[in-house]
Amino acid sequence: MVRKPQPPQILCVVGARPNFMKIAPIMRGLNHPQTGLSGKLVHTGQHYDAAMKTTFFEQLHIPQPDIDLEVGSGTHATQTADIMKRFEPVLDEQRPHAVLVVGDVNSTIACALVAVKKGIPVIHVEAGLRSGDRTMPEEINRVLTDQISELLFTTEKSAADNLLREGVDSDRIHFAGNVMIDTLRYNLAQAIPAMTTTSGLKKNGSRLDLSNGYGLLTLHRPANVDHPEVLQNLLSALVDISRDIPLIFPVHPRTRQRIIDAGLEPMIASSALYMTGPLGYLEMLGMMKDARLVLTDSGGIQEETTALGIPCVTLRENTERPITVEQGTNTIVGNDPRAIHACVADILSTGGKSGCIPELWDGQAAERIVETIALWSNGSL
Ligand code: UD1
Repeated sequence: MVRKPQPPQILCVVGARPNFMKIAPIMRGLNHPQTGLSGKLVHTGQHYDAAMKTTFFEQLHIPQPDIDLEVGSGTHATQTADIMKRFEPVLDEQRPHAVLVVGDVNSTIACALVAVKKGIPVIHVEAGLRSGDRTMPEEINRVLTDQISELLFTTEKSAADNLLREGVDSDRIHFAGNVMIDTLRYNLAQAIPAMTTTSGLKKNGSRLDLSNGYGLLTLHRPANVDHPEVLQNLLSALVDISRDIPLIFPVHPRTRQRIIDAGLEPMIASSALYMTGPLGYLEMLGMMKDARLVLTDSGGIQEETTALGIPCVTLRENTERPITVEQGTNTIVGNDPRAIHACVADILSTGGKSGCIPELWDGQAAERIVETIALWSNGSL
C-alpha cells in the first residue's frame, strides 16, 4: 500500500494571554484543507489561570493544544529554561517542518531558540517591532527571535526598517498585516456589551453608572507596577481622574499582588476606580469598543484601540508600535501624573485625536501569512 504523503506540519507555539488572539486566525488558516499544510499547537503553560488562558481558548475557538508543557510562573531565567527543556523532546517526537512563534513573550524566544538549534526553521509573526528600550524583557525577546527566524511577518512598515538595520535579509521579511486585528474584526459582532460586564460593579452600595461614559484601564508592565512608589503615583493620578469619569480596571494577577503588597487597596476602594478580575476577550472587546478612552501600558491594546478608533493614552515612555501614534488614536504619555491629566482632559473635552486604520489591518493577515508559508514550504517562494 502506498502511504499518502503527510502535509508539512507547522508547529505553532502559544504561552501567554496576548499570544492567544494572534494564534486563533493562524490555526484556522493552517488547518484549512486547501492550504496543503497542517497546524499543531503547543501551549507552554506560561499563563495557566482560567481567566488568563481557558476563557480565551473557548471564546476564540482555538483548538485544544496538542501538547501542554505546563511550565507555569517563575523568574525569567527559570521560566525560559523550563520551556526550553520541555520543548526539546516535543520537537524530537514531532519533527515539524517549521516552528511558528508569535509576539514577544518568554515562550516566543524559548521555543524559537530550541527549534533553530535543532535546524528547524522558525517563523516569527509580529516581527520587527522595536521600542528601543532594552530594559523591557519583551524587547530582548523580539530582537533575539528575529535574528534566528527564517520567515518574518510584519504588521507595519517601520518593522522592516528595524529588521534591515539589524542585518536581516530582505527576502525573509513579509509585510502581512496584523493578525490581532483579524481576531478583532472576526469577533466584533460577538463583543459583550460593557453594561453586561459591569452589571455587578458597586461602590458604597450603589451601582456603577455608565450613562456619562467610562474609561478603561489596564496596567501590568514591570516598569509601572513593580516599584511601589511608581505604582502609587500612577494610581493616585488615576484615582483623581476617576472623579471626572469612572474608570474600570480589569487587574492582571501580578498587578493585583503589587497593589496588595504596596497597601494601595484602601485608596482605590474609596474612589471611582473599579477593579475587576482579568476579563475574557469578548468582554474586553466590548469594554474597549464603547469606552470614551482607554489608559494602558499593554502593546496589543494600543493596536486594538487604533482599529476601533477609540482614544488610547499609553502609560509608557515609548512604543514598539509607532503606527498607532502616527496614524491611529494613540498618545504616549509615560507615567508622569501631569502629562496623564493633560491628555485625559483633552480627550474628555475634544474627543481626542482621530485616526485611520493602518495598511493591511484588514482582517486578512493570517490568510496572507498562510499563503506565504505554503509557497515557502513547497520551495516556490
Ligand atoms: C507576560 C509577558 C508580557 C505580556 C503579558 C500579558 C513576558 C516576558 N511577558 O507578562 O509581554 O504582555 O504576559 O499578560 O513573557 N500569573 C497568574 N496566573 C497566570 C499567569 C501569571 O497568576 O495564569 C501571575 C503570576 O504571579 C506570575 C505573574 O502573573 O508570576 C507574571 O506572569 P508572567 O507570565 O511571568 O509575566 P506577565 O507579567 O504576565
